[in-house]
Amino acid sequence: MKNYKEEFLRLIKSANKITVITGAGISAESGVPTFRGEDGLWKNYRAEELATPYAFQKNPQLVWEWYNWRRELISKCEPNPAHKFLVKLEKEKGDNFLLITQNVDGLHRKAGNKRIIEIHGCIWRVKCVNCAYKDYNYDIPIKILPKCPECDDVLRPDVVWFGESLDYNDLQKSIEACIKCDLLIVIGTSGVVQPVASFPFQAKSNNKNLKLIDINPVKNPISEIADLYIPYKSGEFLKDV
Ligand code: OAD
Repeated sequence: MKNYKEEFLRLIKSANKITVITGAGISAESGVPTFRGEDGLWKNYRAEELATPYAFQKNPQLVWEWYNWRRELISKCEPNPAHKFLVKLEKEKGDNFLLITQNVDGLHRKAGNKRIIEIHGCIWRVKCVNCAYKDYNYDIPIKILPKCPECDDVLRPDVVWFGESLDYNDLQKSIEACIKCDLLIVIGTSGVVQPVASFPFQAKSNNKNLKLIDINPVKNPISEIADLYIPYKSGEFLKDV
């Protein structure tokens, strides 16, 4: 691990602008189940079956029960050394740092990061299916089928579901930050869910000087093109760098 750390720190030191992409793996050591592991299952449902507009239309109660289960689980979790490392990095780099997370668990904010794009939304926000109402909501348990205080229609989690588009501005800002940085660090993503999975590829092909680091105990499509692939758990690797 020592050699990986030396190379990791060397790349960080020589980079002016740093962009970070995180996925469920960064929160695994905090106790948040990843999506594609066995522990990501809930009552034999997979995320792909519940995180869809169709599932919500068909059975909003079931979808809210799943989100309530995830909220209860996440509320007991604390940021781990990998989240804390990114807070330190943001403090060092200031405006030259941006964190793009696919996670909806809110642990990066809880750790203290401010320059974040939560590209798949946030489990601690709700939005109305009918009007523009949107707000933070930390209720545990959340009332199943919460109602909009403004129009009385149903509230849904403010997360991006399969088949839905990402926010246009978030997407533009994220792609630009990936292409225009000197160092792109990817942590804990399986690299199979688009469009985020393609960001490192776009960055590499548009910026020949860009360095790419991937931290993930399991090889994935991003580690194949990384300048430095670190085959360790992110919390374990980043705990004393
Ligand atoms: P996945 O569950 O697909 O992948 C988690 C990745 O984290 C895997 O590659 C693991 O090898 C890795 N991993 C596990 N433990 C780790 C650790 N301690 N340190 C570092 N890496 C570790 O999660 P995502 O790639 O984030 O979307 O999934 C992407 C999206 O698919 C999610 O945002 C979610 C999901 O369905 C929506 O909900 C829209």
